[in-house]
Order: sequence, then C-alpha cells, then structure tokens
Amino acid sequence: MIQKYRFGTPINTDAVVQDIPSAPMDKKDSEENQSILSLAEINAADHFTLTIKMQAQDAVYGLGEANRGINKRGYRYVSHCNDDPNHTEEKVSLYGAHNFILFAGSKFFGLFFDYPSDICFDIGYTTQDTLTVTADEANLDVYLITGADAYDIIHQFRQLIGKSYIPPLWAFGYIQSRWGYKNEEDIRRVAAGYRDNGIPLDSISMDIDYMDHYKDFTVDLERFPNLSALSAEMKEQGLHFIPIIDAGVKIESGYNAYEDGVKNNYFCKRADGTDFVAGVWPGKTHFPDMLDQNVRKWFGLQYKSLIDQGIEGFWNDMNEPAIFYSEEGLAAAFEKMEELEKFKDNPDLNAFWAMRDAFNISNLQKDYERFYHNVDGKKVRHDKVHNLYGFNMTRAAAEGFDEICPEKRMLLFSRSSYIGMHRYGGIWTGDNQSWWSHLLLNIKMMPSLNMCGFLYSGADLGGFGSHTTRDLLLRWLAFGIFTPLMRNHAALGTREQECYQFEGLEDFRNILKLRYRLLPYLYSEYVKAALNDTLLFAPLAFEYPEDAVAREVEDQLMLGEGLMLAPVYQQNTTGRHVYLPEPMLFVLFHTSEEYTVTPMPAGHHYIPCGLAEVPLFIRCGRILPLAPSCECTAQLDYTSFTVLGEEGKGLSYSMYTDDGYTKHPERDGKYLTITK
Ligand code: GLC
Repeated sequence: MIQKYRFGTPINTDAVVQDIPSAPMDKKDSEENQSILSLAEINAADHFTLTIKMQAQDAVYGLGEANRGINKRGYRYVSHCNDDPNHTEEKVSLYGAHNFILFAGSKFFGLFFDYPSDICFDIGYTTQDTLTVTADEANLDVYLITGADAYDIIHQFRQLIGKSYIPPLWAFGYIQSRWGYKNEEDIRRVAAGYRDNGIPLDSISMDIDYMDHYKDFTVDLERFPNLSALSAEMKEQGLHFIPIIDAGVKIESGYNAYEDGVKNNYFCKRADGTDFVAGVWPGKTHFPDMLDQNVRKWFGLQYKSLIDQGIEGFWNDMNEPAIFYSEEGLAAAFEKMEELEKFKDNPDLNAFWAMRDAFNISNLQKDYERFYHNVDGKKVRHDKVHNLYGFNMTRAAAEGFDEICPEKRMLLFSRSSYIGMHRYGGIWTGDNQSWWSHLLLNIKMMPSLNMCGFLYSGADLGGFGSHTTRDLLLRWLAFGIFTPLMRNHAALGTREQECYQFEGLEDFRNILKLRYRLLPYLYSEYVKAALNDTLLFAPLAFEYPEDAVAREVEDQLMLGEGLMLAPVYQQNTTGRHVYLPEPMLFVLFHTSEEYTVTPMPAGHHYIPCGLAEVPLFIRCGRILPLAPSCECTAQLDYTSFTVLGEEGKGLSYSMYTDDGYTKHPERDGKYLTITK
C-alpha cells in the first residue's frame, strides 16, 4: 500500500506516474497498514525533518547512485547532483538524486521524498540509532510504502514511478570509449583493434573530441569529414557510434543552437532577465531551460542532425549542470588575485592558500542561485529544482527521439538523474577511478540503482581516471559482463585501456565472448525486470531475509531469477570467499567455451578463480541458457542454446525475445521455452 503525504506546496517533478490523493496525517495504525506518524516524527513547520529511531538489527537500503555500501546505515548522504570526479569514501553527493529508502528489520517500509533540491539522509551518522531526513523547505510529497517484504515494497515503488527504460538489444553489447579519440582514424583503429583480434564489440562511444569546438550537435569536419559515411562503414562491421551531448550551449554568433536559443528565450536567465553564462568545455555557454517544456521540445529536436547521419544512441553529460565558472565567479577570482598580488614575491601559508583557493569556483551553490527556470509559467530559482536538470535534459532527448524516429528504440544514457528519468534513459555512474575499491563500489551500487528504477546502468569499466592495470580491467570486465550497460571508458591522459592494448589478448576475448553467450539470458531478465517492475540485481538480504549471514553480504549479488554473482575484486588473488545461503551450482568459466560445474552445499566456501576466469552460481531449480559465442549482437543466434543447470529435473526457462528494436516489448515480445 502507498500513502502520500503532502507538505506545503511542492513543485511538480514528474517523478511519479500514479495520482495518489494526499492522506491525512494520522497517528493511528490500521490493520493492514501503518501511518507515517506511527513510524516517524515529522517537523514540517519551517524546514522539513523526519526522524526514525533504528534498532540494532535495522538496515536502510536504497538511495540509488550513492557512495558506500548496499546497507546505507552509518553515514550521511546528500541528494545534490554533483559533478565531482573524486568518489572517495567521504563524499556525500554523486551525480544522481534518488531519494528512496527502504527500511528493513524491526519494521519494513519504503519512503520516497519527492523533493527536487538538496535533501540530506543522516542514517546513523550523527547519532547511531537515528535516521534523520532534512530539507531546507517543507514543500514536498512523501510517499510511504508498506508491504510484505523488500521485494513487495520495491515492486510497489517501481509501479509508482513508472516503467524503466528499455534500450535496443545492441545496447547490451560491449561498448569501447575513451576521451581522446580525436579523428576518424582513431575510430577505425579501435574498430580494427577489436575486429582483427576477434574480440567482440558492438559500439564505440564518441567523446567531446568529435565536436567542432565542443559545440553540441556539430561535427569537426576537419577531423571527421564525413560522419554519415563513417557510421555506414562501421555499421557494415556491426558497430554503432554513440556521441556525447553536453548541457551547455556555446556562446558563438552564427552557431544555430545558440542563435535559436537566444532568439526564443530558451536559456536560463539571471534575476535581471539576461541569459546566465556558465563556463564549460567550449568556454562560455548558456544552459537551455530543460524544465520548460517548449525548450525541451526544441532541444530534443536538435538531435536530429546527428540521427540523420546514422546515429542511434547518445550519452548526455555535464547535466548536473556542471559549471567550471560563472562570469560573476570568474570576475571575483581575478579581483581576489589582484588583491593578493602584493604577496607575489614571498607568499606565506595564508597568502598562498588564498591564491590557491581563489580559483576554486566550480559548481558553487552561489552560482546555482544565480539563474532561473520557467516551470509551468512560474519563475523558479535553479537551486530549488537543481536535481531535475539532468532528468529533463534526458527527457528532452527521449521525447525528441519519439518524434524523429518513432519506430525505433534509441540508446540513451545520462550522467545526472532524478527518479523519473529511469523512464527515459539509463545512467552511467560517472567519473570513477581505476581503483579496486571502485570495482567494489560498482558491485554494491547496482542493486541500489535498480531499486530506484535505473536498470540500464553500469560503471566505466577499467576505471575512468588514473591508469588502469591489466588485472583490474580483467576482473572489472568479469563483473561488467553482467551489467546491462557494459562500457570501457577512460579519461584523457590515462593509459590506453582498450582490451587489445594488453598482453594475453585471449583472456579479454574469452571474457567478452562470454558476455555474448550470456546476452540472450541477460536481455530476457532485463526486459522482464522492466516490464514487471522488479529488480535485476538484488542484495542477498532481500532473497534470504531470515539468514543473518546473508543479510550482511555486500560483495555478492542475486541476478535475475536464477543466478548469484560473486565477483573477484581484490588484486593478487586466485579466488575468494563466498557464502551460499542455500545449495547452488558453482560454474567456473575457464574460457568462453570451457567451464566446470560443481554442486556446492550451503555455507562458507573458498572458490578458486584465476585472472581470466569468471565465476557464477546457478540456484537450484534454475537453468542458465548460453548462446553460441559471437562478436556482436547482430550475430546472436537464438536457435541453439547450451543449457547449464541441474540434470534430470525437467527444468525450463521462459526466455523473452523480440527484434531488439520494437517500441512495445509488452505487446510484441515473445517467450521461448528453453528446457534442460
Ligand atoms: C566528463 C564525463 C566523462 C567524459 C568527460 C569529457 O568528465 O563524465 O565521461 O569523458 O566529461 O567529455
């Protein structure tokens, strides 16, 4: 059951799709349901504060794209879409704002705080036994979801926020990316690096280097003289391009998007009515007012110029929106430096730190307070709706695609997001690092993202910042072959990390081939999770709530109806400890073709897993169909499966299939019965 409590006069965020009348604030518990005041103390007089006492055994899940563990207890998190590439353990805000928590233990319920500005979840950080949710303004809708168990609560929440986005089948293929592919030759070299070495690949994503001076919807014609021809050439090899689009539109006379935007008042304005200026990649830009539906319509249609050149997928970036500097901030920084000039010959500690900090002017709250949106005819200051910007940029694109190519599913993923955006596209988890701890963070984040509707998601495999190592990339890929978005992406200036750059290519080939062998099953489980509002990745705690050990396992995940994953995420190891809450089949893939299957009893085990191997577990009574291996989704063969699972039990699996493009999976999908 879902109850909505309205406080003050909230801004409509479009996060939810069900129109639920607001319930009266009531202290009484009815039989089948609890009221919010029986669970929490609320103070909504001026600011908003909700407080819940936690028992020792209580866990708190959710928050989607957030730092730290699956169980969020013991830290604080602030929903504030943040362009911060250093995801170190103390950080409280990443790129998404996913205000859903699930309380599990002495009581079971979910809470969604539909509030588009900063909101803080202190989950036993200030006081160990207290969960406190605070927001500056008491204008929000709070949804209380009660149900039988974690799955039931998640299912109801997902129905509340609407169906998750389903990308085309090819989007489940392996994607190679790098900031720094600067011309057609670089792209051809990547394609050949994979194809010539027989390593599977479906797409290459194009970073800002393809644009003419980082101007959205333009192509640098010197370095990419004929994008249509290049994209046709790649398509012949079964490859797709996925260009990046950034939020800021470069200020440059003669540039269409800029001129159109100025003429039609499509850009966010300062209080005095002038267009707000933010410095990003191209220098000074304006931000399209994505919260205005007319602007969304205009911006969405801009993608047409690239779609007309054969593009079928995009990634939307810098849409928190990221601000390197504002005009005001830059002027103040130079003024400060003038003041400090007197210390230039011999700055002491304080003077030197002041100089160093003078240009610390990116993504400032002060700047987010300098510009305004037009929300349904009302002027709203940006900081009040900050977390909706990336959502609405991606919505603009998705709605544009519906008009430009209504018959096709397009690939779309975004960096910044709010709950509701999961209906329009996926997300990648931003600028991680080539650190083993970020492989573990990727593992832990997947179920939390799913809880909030974000099924099409994944991390930059191998790590974005820092130099990767061969073993880290192999281990990360061995987990990444299970994530819907499977993209290897790296930052400018880091070691090249395409699979063919490393010795022992066959190890990479085997792991990626296994992705394609698993792909029909993974796609089927994905679409089922999207259509049925369920999880693709679940914590063990949800599946085995009575098992005290399973409840605390955070480095193993349930995947779909039949699998459990236990990825290796430590360097210099030849295996790992695994806890089995029930007997399972342990499958160890030595290559994409060779594997051993070992039945294992419930309990603690140490499993071997060499650097080039992939472990997985099949649950009793379930089977895993493997397709023949291939090099891209266009070659997938759905006619002959190798089926792993218990012998002689007459087990079957109902596999969802479609043409990979159809817009109506529910209507047009078919189910193949696969038996063992
Ligand atoms: C941002 C993105 C990253 C991209 C870079 C250049 O940092 O998160 O993925 O490579 O911008 O466009």
